[in-house]
Amino acid sequence: MTHKKGLYIQMFSIHGLLRAENMELGHDADTGGQIKYVVELCKTLSVSDQIRKIDLFTRLIKDKSYSDDYGQPIEQVNEKFRIVRIQCGGKKHIRKELLWPHLDEFVDKTIIFIRQEKDIPDIVHGHYPDAGHVAMELGSFFGVPLVYTGHSLGRSKQVRLLDDGYDINEMNRKLKIDHRIDTEEHILKSADRVITSTHQEIEGQYGLYRNRSLPTYTVIPPGIGIERFYPYYHDTFSSSQEKEEALYAKASVIQELNRFYTHPDKPIILVLCRPDKRKNIQGLVKAYGEDVELQAMANLAIFAGIRKDISDKEETERDVLTRMLLLMDKYNLYGKMAIPKQHDFEHEVPELYRIAAEQRGVFVNPALTEPFGLTLLEALACGLPIVATNDGGPRDIVKNCQTGTLVDPTNTKEMASAIKDIIVHEDKWNQFSKNGILNTRKFYSWVSHAKSYCDEVTAVCNQYEKSFITTVEPKQGIGKRLAKLDYMLITDIDNTLLGGTPEDLHALMDLLEENEGQIGFCVATGRIFESALDILNTNGIRIPDIIISGVGSRISYGDSLDHDKGWETHISKNWAPDLIASRLEEIDFIRPQEASVQGTYKLGYTMTPGKDRLARIHHILTKNRFQYTLIYSQDKDLDILPYRASKGKAIRYLSYKWGIPLKNLLVCGDSGNDAEMLKGEPLGVVVGNYSPELETLKSAKQIYFAKKTYAGGIMEGISHYQFIR
Ligand code: GLC
Ligand code: MG
Repeated sequence: MTHKKGLYIQMFSIHGLLRAENMELGHDADTGGQIKYVVELCKTLSVSDQIRKIDLFTRLIKDKSYSDDYGQPIEQVNEKFRIVRIQCGGKKHIRKELLWPHLDEFVDKTIIFIRQEKDIPDIVHGHYPDAGHVAMELGSFFGVPLVYTGHSLGRSKQVRLLDDGYDINEMNRKLKIDHRIDTEEHILKSADRVITSTHQEIEGQYGLYRNRSLPTYTVIPPGIGIERFYPYYHDTFSSSQEKEEALYAKASVIQELNRFYTHPDKPIILVLCRPDKRKNIQGLVKAYGEDVELQAMANLAIFAGIRKDISDKEETERDVLTRMLLLMDKYNLYGKMAIPKQHDFEHEVPELYRIAAEQRGVFVNPALTEPFGLTLLEALACGLPIVATNDGGPRDIVKNCQTGTLVDPTNTKEMASAIKDIIVHEDKWNQFSKNGILNTRKFYSWVSHAKSYCDEVTAVCNQYEKSFITTVEPKQGIGKRLAKLDYMLITDIDNTLLGGTPEDLHALMDLLEENEGQIGFCVATGRIFESALDILNTNGIRIPDIIISGVGSRISYGDSLDHDKGWETHISKNWAPDLIASRLEEIDFIRPQEASVQGTYKLGYTMTPGKDRLARIHHILTKNRFQYTLIYSQDKDLDILPYRASKGKAIRYLSYKWGIPLKNLLVCGDSGNDAEMLKGEPLGVVVGNYSPELETLKSAKQIYFAKKTYAGGIMEGISHYQFIR
């Protein structure tokens, strides 16, 4: 239990190029707004009194084509804030869709890191489903609450891509979209809080999920860097102190614009976005092109990303840019429309907003859909009024800031007249500009964001019934023995240790006995404790050092046969076996196993396979808001356990508690209830007689599929890993 003052938050943002300074935003599709948001959030939180410590976990990348910064295991950003880099799936940079199989490795290595630090977080927060998955696993392992921010959602993306004519198989091959959506559903089930930027996200995006109604949502709009996006009139007041850099940036933006304009002094209609079809740049060019009056009163400036040669761009971007050029030609907008090829984000973008504001222009966001719209806030903060699409993000912004006009982005006439209306009415422009400057500071500063965030997570922590798992100093009994061990063999009983020839079994047991000093012996079974002891006895097997029984729902030590009470308290949270059993009575295709195999923390059923059967059970359980783990093995056994229990979680707990590195565990199994403990850092062995549900593990890292069966397969695995030399 920690009693230190303030919260220790662990943030997770796994993909992308992440560092504290000089972020390479837009470097690739995985290094976008999310990265910037997370780093800014951590920086701001780290100065709050409510925060004791904040660590941001990301993936370590050691790759010649990338800066060394991404290969530093620890980046100490300030006294309270560190970026911690954990390696998984090799060291090369890989796109986020390829990271899924490596996340268990990330989880395990983070557990090791936390153990070394001897500091368990008060709360974990995952960003995007990859990190959401990692945070979820860690949250349930350490017994701390989980906060989730999706940033963008798989189901919305799927709908969009289907609209664009994408093929669903292609989507799965390239983007692993179904896997992503499954993970998201799972996270929604476990999250203690989901934080969104807008209200629209809750309805319009999370609303597409089966588990949408399970979590509690809180809207906290992100902050913007007010220091960079100061109002346009500050220049005139403090020019002597202006950094040379800002002045230079301003001069070069003006120079660039002037290359395009015949009358550079007119107000500017500014748009700034990626060349993405959904951003609807062509809608704005059309609106401008069709309206001669608008052309007479203002110039148009389009900053659509950075380009060298349009023909080198990806097809979708090339398309957008080419259409833009064709429309410029069609409406003959030469001398009135600027389309600069590049701009720098750090210095030029804020100047751009200020130049447009000084010339009493308007910023336009013509996108077809806009979940957030950070650029709108930046423009407003500089004092530039906005015209924006009538959708999620802009709606909240216009409402909070009392500024700007919302339009239907497909109605070019409406768009043009909204722009004109602001440009010609001086009072309106002034009012909008003033409201934008003042209200962005009130609603969207990082400081107010951090305040709301801290209040929220503090509330989550207070509501949460914590159960910190602990490490122990090995002083006596079993602890003394475990501390001396170098390695541990952990094996399932039925159809792994037992079931084969007596010769193989004896050979294995002899080997263990010879090496008893260094190698521990642990069984992990679906049987309840008494039945496990029984069967071991019948087969003449010595009492193991550790017995994990009831599919990970009980841990007992061989010396005393006492069970681990810490584990029991840890998994007991939210466990309601009677309620679960009564809800499942309505299902006619499952039937409870006999009473003698049921455990305090395990409900066993029998079920023959059938289409959508598992989905149906999940549906009933989640609908009733149960938290649980469900494991189906050998086409018949259906186990329902507390959500913090499983064989996999139990062995991680043991590794953590007794300080036996996961890498030093050799884990053997044959069926579905072994899957979780076979994955990740431990050395996995699947015996030759495995059941089909383990087939998928063939693609997992570090799992050896033995040719020999039963105990023979275990022996083969031992020599494969050279576990005993
Ligand atoms: C054992 C248990 C049974 C469980 C199965 C799979 O056979 O007795 O209850 O369902 O293992 O975990
Ligand atoms: Mg088995």
